Amino acid sequence: MAPPSSLLLLPPFLFLFLQSCRLSTSSLPSVAKGTSLSVESPDDVLVSPSRAYSAGFFPIGDNAYGFAVWFSDPPCSGAACTPVWMANREAPVNGRRSTFSLLDSGNLVLTDAGDAGAEVWSSGTSSPSAAELRLNDIGNLVLTDGSGGVLWQSFNSPTDTLLPQQPLTRNTFLISARSRYNYSTGFYKLYFDNDNVLRLLFDGPSISSVYWPFPWVLSSALGRFLYNSSRIAVLDPLGLFQSSDNYSFYTSDYGVAAMQRRMTLDFDGNLRVYSREPGSTVWAVTWEAISSDPCFIHGVCGNNSLCSYDPAKGRSCSCVPGYVPKVPGDWSAGCVPNFTFSDGCVADEIGFVKLQHVDFYGYDYNTIFNTTLGKCRQTCLSLCNCRGFQFSASGSRSTFSCYPKMELLNGHKEPSLTGEFFIKIPKYKTFTVDQLVKRTQYSCPPTPEVKVVDRTYSKKGKNGALNFMLWFACVVGGIEVVVVFLVWFFLIRNQQDVTSAHQSNLLAATGFKRFTYDELKKATRNFSKEIGRGAGGIVYKALLPDDRVAAVKVLGNAKTGEADFLAEASTIGRLNHMNLIEMWGYCAEGKHKLLVYQFMEHGSLAQNLASPELNWKRRFDVAVGTAKGLAYLHEECLEWVLHCDVKPENILLDSDYQPKVADFGLSKLMDRGKAMNSDFSRIRGTRGYMAPEWVSNLSITSKVDVYSYGIVMLEMVTGISPTTTVHSLESGGDAKQIRLVPWARNKMNEPRRTGSRLEEMVDLALMGEYDLRKMEILIEVALKCVEEDKDARLTMGQVVEMLLRHENDG
Ligand SMILES: *[C@@H]1O[C@H](CO)[C@@H](O)[C@H](O)[C@H]1NC(C)=O
Ligand SMILES: *[C@@H]1O[C@H](CO)[C@@H](O)[C@H](O)[C@H]1NC(C)=O
Ligand SMILES: *[C@@H]1O[C@H](CO)[C@@H](O)[C@H](O)[C@H]1NC(C)=O
Ligand SMILES: *[C@@H]1O[C@H](CO)[C@@H](O)[C@H](O)[C@H]1NC(C)=O
Ligand SMILES: *[C@@H]1O[C@H](CO)[C@@H](O)[C@H](O)[C@H]1NC(C)=O
Ligand SMILES: *[C@@H]1O[C@H](CO)[C@@H](O)[C@H](O)[C@H]1NC(C)=O
Repeated sequence: MAPPSSLLLLPPFLFLFLQSCRLSTSSLPSVAKGTSLSVESPDDVLVSPSRAYSAGFFPIGDNAYGFAVWFSDPPCSGAACTPVWMANREAPVNGRRSTFSLLDSGNLVLTDAGDAGAEVWSSGTSSPSAAELRLNDIGNLVLTDGSGGVLWQSFNSPTDTLLPQQPLTRNTFLISARSRYNYSTGFYKLYFDNDNVLRLLFDGPSISSVYWPFPWVLSSALGRFLYNSSRIAVLDPLGLFQSSDNYSFYTSDYGVAAMQRRMTLDFDGNLRVYSREPGSTVWAVTWEAISSDPCFIHGVCGNNSLCSYDPAKGRSCSCVPGYVPKVPGDWSAGCVPNFTFSDGCVADEIGFVKLQHVDFYGYDYNTIFNTTLGKCRQTCLSLCNCRGFQFSASGSRSTFSCYPKMELLNGHKEPSLTGEFFIKIPKYKTFTVDQLVKRTQYSCPPTPEVKVVDRTYSKKGKNGALNFMLWFACVVGGIEVVVVFLVWFFLIRNQQDVTSAHQSNLLAATGFKRFTYDELKKATRNFSKEIGRGAGGIVYKALLPDDRVAAVKVLGNAKTGEADFLAEASTIGRLNHMNLIEMWGYCAEGKHKLLVYQFMEHGSLAQNLASPELNWKRRFDVAVGTAKGLAYLHEECLEWVLHCDVKPENILLDSDYQPKVADFGLSKLMDRGKAMNSDFSRIRGTRGYMAPEWVSNLSITSKVDVYSYGIVMLEMVTGISPTTTVHSLESGGDAKQIRLVPWARNKMNEPRRTGSRLEEMVDLALMGEYDLRKMEILIEVALKCVEEDKDARLTMGQVVEMLLRHENDG
């Protein structure tokens, strides 16, 4: 533009600036046949009767517009508005001379000025008689013919958003945007699959895989009903979502009718419901499909890399040992080996490095059931293109299965993942523990800025300068700086997706399932036999339809989000160890949240402490077994699964008096307002068993469980409860109030008089029948667990080792 003309146009420029950037409130109620909306006229906006929604040209970049429907109450302008539908998300049109018209033929067309009136979108409709386009109050843009019949409606071709009352059907699906500000189609899809189940799919350029509902659990076990082929899902205005596969949820603000809501498949692959209070410009997430660990979303990191999630830092990617990033700074490009094999299957060249808590989804060569580590290893060795294998316990837990992998994709690191993963590397490569454990700490680099394409146009229109100024004013005044996240390249060989069956086998075999409330009500005979009561809720005895005896826990204050609850329950359901109680299933129906566990014949340790049945051998077994169970939870540097409430009530005894730790992970299922993170809401546990860190401001680590374990052990051997101050029986029965830990410590520090100091400590119920040496070790271990300084305490692994070392030599 020539500067003089700009100067001359200054007053009109200002006027136009105000005109065009004024929040369009005049606007049109409808578009009739033969008329069109112009990108250059700010008043060419179709508004719904209540003004809740508007439709018109929506700026999506420098001089680039989409024809969109957006929320317009409260009024907004430009990029500050939230679009819910767009006709041309792939092909933005020019900011000059582009039009959206209802032709005389009855066809709706969007034309771009750039290419001599090129048609970029059309509804493909025709109507010999009258036709009219209106935007209704639920956000649906509807083209009707003369008699009111619907010729076309935007609700039938959603982009990434569903509005309340807009059905998702067999013919429609949502596809995420490419990035936060790039509205073109991205990689994630919400759709009804061939088996009638509503799913989320990662559909990358060369691979695709389903990640929701979690593919390792049978859809039916998650309560999805496969035999309703009506395939329809809809969010109602109050916040209840219901799908014909029997999946449903309530948003966290369910019931508030005045809320504006939308369900959007976001560019990060998560499906969320957002709500907004009347008059507010801020959207709040009131439900999301994947809330426990966003690494469950596929396609986050490229091949040969692992996604891990930290609630404080978010998702991060890292290469598996021996591999280096292919494109430094772009994790989606994956990692490549920093080594070469002469061939992938020359046995004496090959070594394996073991990773724990790691899973790669899909690309199984095949699955070998009931096998040994040696055979599994041999299988992978002899397959030149085997990159590693997973070796894990099968459902019954008495046999192991082997999963050789052709590709290491969808890698995910999470403490609750069980089994071991072995990566094939050259023998000569060695790694330090540091490299193996800590190497996953890189976080994804900030994504670079990409500027939105500049649309060019060839023809000059009338009033070119004026139009330019109008355009310029609007762009400058209305559009915020647009930042586009780097697109994800998946330069992945064209290979078909091999869906992994192994995880579903696992859960099918363990029998982890969803129960209905009615089933459990019947199984517990209307909740008649209470067998326990704790912070989490009341426990009832139940007889399941398959004749197994179960304990059903009714959670009093469970997470309201059903999805959250399901995710956590299935994660906990996957932790398995002989000293952890087995979870058989759950029920989540509206406000009813129940967990189904195996039943323990002998109740809790608390109920048995005074029993003569709990002899010395059994007590020692309880000490070792409980330590093993907790060590498994804390396993190797990963301290995510803290129990936080170790006490005799939570250690259950089976028919052989073998201990099983109960109630682990429960805190994750309870509604504590915030997600589990490093500073989770202070003070949990039970008075008497709580480590000093809880009341000071120190960080909470697995050592809180070690402390509680130490107290339980002291209680078990002395018979003295930590929750009451006790009367010492020494000095001739002269009662004096003392506390368990200092008392025990003093006793042990008294000069040795062959066991007499122990005699004074040990529970009278044992009638003096115990192994002196083991007793001494157990008390020593217990005292090392209850050190004030958490760093001075043992780890659970060390506890097991110390107790067992003595077991064998004594
Ligand atoms: C199938 O789903 C639809 C919609 O949710 C429901 O109305 C219908 O009753 C269901 N049919 C069966 C057989 O469950
Ligand atoms: C769907 O779920 C409801 C409870 O949420 C249950 O009563 C019903 O039996 C289920 N339908 C099917 C077909 O599974
Ligand atoms: C790759 O391997 C070479 C030699 O084998 C080693 O010096 C280098 O540090 C490795 N790179 C990475 C990033 O591990
Ligand atoms: C596993 O294999 C072993 C020997 O190969 C066999 O004795 C055992 O019965 C098998 N177990 C199962 C559960 O199939
Ligand atoms: C949005 O992403 C698509 C697909 O990668 C790309 O072709 C297009 O140029 C991007 N648009 C902008 C404005 O960056
Ligand atoms: C994965 O990584 C390997 C290197 O190990 C590379 O050669 C291959 O092309 C990648 N495959 C895909 C599907 O990206």
